[in-house]
Amino acid sequence: MKKKYLELVELLHKYNYYYYEKNESLVSDVEYDKLIKELEKLEENYPELKVSNSPSEKVGSHFKTSKFNKVTHKKSMLSLSNSYNISEVENFIVRAKKSIDEEMEYILELKLDGLSISVIYENGKLVQAITRGDGIIGEDVTENILEIESIPHYLKERVSIEVRGEIVLPLSNFEKLNSQRLSDGEELFANPRNAASGTIRQLDSKIVKNRGLDCYFYYVVDGENFGISKHSDSLKFIENLGLKTSGVYEICKTSKELEERINFWEKERHSLPYETDGLVIKINDYNHHSILGNTTKAPRWAIAYKFPAKQVTTKLLGVTYQVGRTGTVTPVAELEAVEVSGSIVKRASLHNFDEIRRKDIKIGDKVFIEKAAEIIPQVIKVVKEERTGAELEIIPPTHCPICNTALAQEEGLVALKCPNPQCDAKIQRRIEYFVSRDAMSIDGLGGKIIEKFIEIGKIKDISDIYLLKNFKEELMSLDKMGEKSVNNLIDSIEESKKRDYSKTLYALGIPFVGKFLANLLAKESKSIDNLAKLDIEDLLNIEQVGEKVANSVYNFFRTEENIELLNKLKSFGINYEIKENNDTQLETFSGKTFLFTGKLEHFTRNEIKDIVEKLGGTNLGSVSKKLDFLIVGKDAGSKLEKALEIGTVKIIKEEDFFNMINEDSKEINSEQNNNSKLEPQSLF
Ligand code: IVH
Repeated sequence: MKKKYLELVELLHKYNYYYYEKNESLVSDVEYDKLIKELEKLEENYPELKVSNSPSEKVGSHFKTSKFNKVTHKKSMLSLSNSYNISEVENFIVRAKKSIDEEMEYILELKLDGLSISVIYENGKLVQAITRGDGIIGEDVTENILEIESIPHYLKERVSIEVRGEIVLPLSNFEKLNSQRLSDGEELFANPRNAASGTIRQLDSKIVKNRGLDCYFYYVVDGENFGISKHSDSLKFIENLGLKTSGVYEICKTSKELEERINFWEKERHSLPYETDGLVIKINDYNHHSILGNTTKAPRWAIAYKFPAKQVTTKLLGVTYQVGRTGTVTPVAELEAVEVSGSIVKRASLHNFDEIRRKDIKIGDKVFIEKAAEIIPQVIKVVKEERTGAELEIIPPTHCPICNTALAQEEGLVALKCPNPQCDAKIQRRIEYFVSRDAMSIDGLGGKIIEKFIEIGKIKDISDIYLLKNFKEELMSLDKMGEKSVNNLIDSIEESKKRDYSKTLYALGIPFVGKFLANLLAKESKSIDNLAKLDIEDLLNIEQVGEKVANSVYNFFRTEENIELLNKLKSFGINYEIKENNDTQLETFSGKTFLFTGKLEHFTRNEIKDIVEKLGGTNLGSVSKKLDFLIVGKDAGSKLEKALEIGTVKIIKEEDFFNMINEDSKEINSEQNNNSKLEPQSLF
C-alpha cells in the first residue's frame, strides 16, 4: 500500500509541476480529480502513510522555476471543491443546512477557465497583482497585469481593496495567437487556459500587451469592511468601481432553480466569447460564510459545478482512413473509448498528414482529445513525456483503403485523394449527401442500405436510387425492412424528383457549393442547362462567387461522368429548373431573426444582412425577446450583455454563422459522425 501511495504522490507532484510551472497539462482535469480523490481516500484509511507535502493539501505551485518575486497573500487564495452532477450540489446544500437554520440564497456564476489573480488597490491605485501560487505564496506579476486593458490602473473611487478574479484569453484571441504561432512554426497552446497562464508568466510585458488577455473579477477580500453583507452586492460594488465581472451572477433560492440554470448554462456556455469549465455556486450571505468557514483548500460556502470535460486524455490505438465524397482520404484516430462532453468517443479526426507530422502523433501515444460544441472530436496534442519508446510512426497510405487505387496528391495541397470515380466509398458518400435532409430529403435510405446495394452491384451511381423500386424483394430482405417501410422509401424516392432546382443543385455535391451558393446559383441560372453553359468569367460575375467556386462549377459541367449522371437523372424526371411561381429559396433562416455586434472578420455588416435576407431571415436593429441569433464579433459589448440577460437569444460566433451558410467544412463531419446534434444545423 505504501508503494502505491508514494507512486500516486509522485505522479500528482509531476502533474502539478507541469501544470503550474510549465503551463502544461499532462492529464485531463477529470483524471486529475480522480487521482486526488484516490489519494485522499488512502490518506483517510491509512493516516500513517501521509507525507508532509502531500498534493492533497497543496493548492498549486511550488515555484521550482519561478522568475518572479514571491509574495505572501494577506488572506490565502483558496480553491473550490468540485461537483459533477446536481445531486452533488444538493449534498453541498444539505451539508450547509446542517450549520445554518435559516433560508439561504445561492449565487450562480460562470467558472471562467484561466488563471486566478489577486489585485490590490491602495487609495484607488493598482499597486500589486499576485498569482495564486500555492494559495499562501504567489508570484508578483504586477508589471504584466498593468498591460491588460480591462484591468483599470485607477478605480472610480479612492478605496483600498483587494479583489480576486480570473485572467482569460478570449477564444477569438486564442485562435489568432495559435494561427500566428502555426505560421511562425512555434508550438501551439493546447487551450486558452494554458495560453493565458503562459502569457502572464512571461518576463517581457510587451508580449502580454499584444496577446489580448481579459480579466473578470468574482471575489472581494474582506468584503464586509465595505459595509457589504452579501456576495452579490460585493460584485455590484466592484462593478461600480470600474472593475469587470462576467455579468452573470444569478440569485437562486432553491436547488430546483439552480438545476434549471445549470441546465441552461450547460448549453449556453458555448456561445460565450471565452471558455468556461463549469459554474460556481456560492451561498450569498456573508454571515453564512463565517458560520461555514473553510477547509485547508476550499471555502465550505461555495462549490464548483464542473461541466462534462471537453478535453480528456486517452490512448491512440491505431489509425484508419476514411474516403470522402470528393475522394479525400482523411486519417482517423481509433481511440480507447472515453467519455467527452457526455458521450462516448472512440474516433477523432486527424485531418491530414501535415497535422500528424506537426503534432508528432504516434500510434500508442497518450493523447488529449477535445469535442467542442458542434465539432467532431479532434486530437489536440500528444503527451510526449509519457512515451515508452514502443510508439509507432503513422505511415501515409499509398493506395485507397476501399478500392486499392493508387492515391494522388494535388499540387500544393496536403490532402491525399482517391482518383477512382467508381470508388465505392465515394459513391456511398455522394448518395448519403444526395438523400440528406437539406438535399433531396429522402427518408429511410440509410447508410446500411446504400452500402448493401453497392455491394450487390445494384447501385453504381446516384441515379441508380431511382431504380430501387425494381428491387422491392431485395429491399424487403434487409433487416428491419417490412413492406410498409419499403413502400414508404420508394414513395419518398419518387417524391424527391419534384424538389426545387436549388435543392437538386445542392444535392449534386459540386465541391464548394453549399446551401447558400446552391440557392444563389439556382436563382441566377434559372436552369441547369443555363448553368452548364456559363464560363468561368460568367460565373465570376455573380456576386459572392469567387475563383474557387467558379472553377469548381465550371469543371463539374465539363467532366464526362458528371454529364452522364446529369443525363441519367434527367431521364428519371429530376427537376432541373425554376418553376414559375415556385419559390426556390432554401428557406434556411425562414422565420428567424438576426443581429450582429462587435467587429466581424469575415463579413462586412452589409454582407451579413444580405445573406440573412437571401436565406429568408430577418435582420433586427436591437436586442429584444424577438431576437433568435446574436452574431458576436470581437469586442462585443452591451448587446451581448443584454442578450445574455434575456436568456433566450442564441449567441453565436462569426465562425458558427459561417458554418451555418457554408458547407465547405461539413464533409468530414457528416461522414464521421451521423449524430445530427453535432451539425451546425442543430442550431435550428
Ligand atoms: S471563487 C474563495 N468564482 O476556479 C473564492 N472562482 O477551481 C474561491 N474560478 O481558484 C474562488 N471562476 O481560479 C470563484 N466565479 C468564480 C470563478 C472562480 C473561475 C477559478 C478560480 C479558482 C478556481 C477553483
